Amino acid sequence: MSDCNTRIIAPSLLASDWGKVGEEVRRADEAGSDWLHLDVMDGHFVENISFGPQFVSAVRPHTSLTLDTHLMITRPDKYLEMFIKAGCDRITVHVEAEHDVADTLANIRAAGLQCGLALNPATSLEEVKPFLGQIDLLLVMTVVPGFGGQSFMEAETMPKVAEAARIRSEKGLGFHIQVDGGIDHATVEIAAANGANVMVAGTALYGAPDMPSAVKQMRG
Ligand code: DX5
Ligand code: ZN
Repeated sequence: MSDCNTRIIAPSLLASDWGKVGEEVRRADEAGSDWLHLDVMDGHFVENISFGPQFVSAVRPHTSLTLDTHLMITRPDKYLEMFIKAGCDRITVHVEAEHDVADTLANIRAAGLQCGLALNPATSLEEVKPFLGQIDLLLVMTVVPGFGGQSFMEAETMPKVAEAARIRSEKGLGFHIQVDGGIDHATVEIAAANGANVMVAGTALYGAPDMPSAVKQMRG
């Protein structure tokens, strides 16, 4: 497992052409990405509906990239088994969702996967502090989740990234800090300067005319 100081580039499939998803998955792989970020939305926890476990199963055979699954769903506990069976490598759940957070995180790890915890821009870091010792990744959302192509919310989110990085080193923890939403070649450097190392980007990577150079540029 890469350490939390290595910059990891994770294109979000949300921004790809779903009409040729197999090709788009391979394109991210060939462009030199590290992980593939899958934005699962249920139309209840967030205003949009994207895809579910069956779509993840369809993606799985097209790449050996880490499938980094972001569950923007109200009941991640209820669907966990289905996403594990679908071939996810990492599953991130929201602290704001309706579940027993510690239980869900433990169940993800018990299945042999890496577990992540996400918080929305309006959610205080206090909400996730009790769980920092039992996660492999903290996802600090840098937009209000639901749609790609939004603007990076620096003021509301960078202080949380910096504080999480400080706590991590004080406590000798090793979780990745991931940012997701409005990440491009400029905002990625702001996020990195504050302590983030896993960079999720949809528009800036799948929307780029030349994905390999966009990935390279985002790697810094
Ligand atoms: C939540 C989604 C988006 C997506 C990235 O809405 O998680 O943030 O991954 O979208 P871009 O990179 O297009 O802002
Ligand atoms: Zn996401």
